[in-house]
Amino acid sequence: MKEKVEFMPDKRTWHPSPLLGQITLVTSLNSDGTSNVAPKRWISMMAFSPPLLALGCNLGHWTGRNILERKEFVVNIPGAELAEQAWKVHELPHPRPVEAAGLTPIPAIKVKPPRIEECRAHLECVLDQHLAYGQELVILGRIVAGSIDAEALQAEDPYSYLRLVVFLEGHRYGIVEQAHQLPSQPERRTGA
Ligand SMILES: Cc1cc2nc3c(=O)[nH]c(=O)nc-3n(C[C@H](O)[C@H](O)[C@H](O)COP(=O)(O)O)c2cc1C
Repeated sequence: MKEKVEFMPDKRTWHPSPLLGQITLVTSLNSDGTSNVAPKRWISMMAFSPPLLALGCNLGHWTGRNILERKEFVVNIPGAELAEQAWKVHELPHPRPVEAAGLTPIPAIKVKPPRIEECRAHLECVLDQHLAYGQELVILGRIVAGSIDAEALQAEDPYSYLRLVVFLEGHRYGIVEQAHQLPSQPERRTGA
């Protein structure tokens, strides 16, 4: 039998981390109508119908408060070229509109917070419900609109175009460089 080493459930101690979190840039609106942008990696799909995603966010963060108060947000999906930017954005002082991060806000299709032009894809969400554990929030967002760079759909391997980034630990990240197709299965362009 292979030797197994036990580790603590506290994620802050994980090295290496066995669970990945995709790095996203979440936009929300402040009370004065200006935008706020923050990197978030505790995020994942939860259900097909309704299309629900979950976001883990600290209640002390502008993003968490904005989502609870104004009930809308956009999950912007950066490519690898914006990975370092995610850490820089996190260090910027507030107020922190999209422009302060050197990025370009563009209107979303269905919600008020903006999309970020430089990102590859965008999931527009409305707050469905939330759970609070002390200062930590689990936000369930219902996806009401989505958009993606047209170039991603034209590429032979859309994943080589997207170059999605995952958080590993500390200041380390990984990049999804290419897709691997199961040899005996036909390519499927949509769904899981
Ligand atoms: C790559 C990266 C990913 C992060 N992911 C999360 C996350 O998923 N949830 C969270 O609460 N904070 C996360 N943080 C920390 C906050 O986003 C960060 O402290 C930010 O400045 C808070 O901004 P806000 O107050 O505008 O929301 C992350 C930071 C980095 C650098």
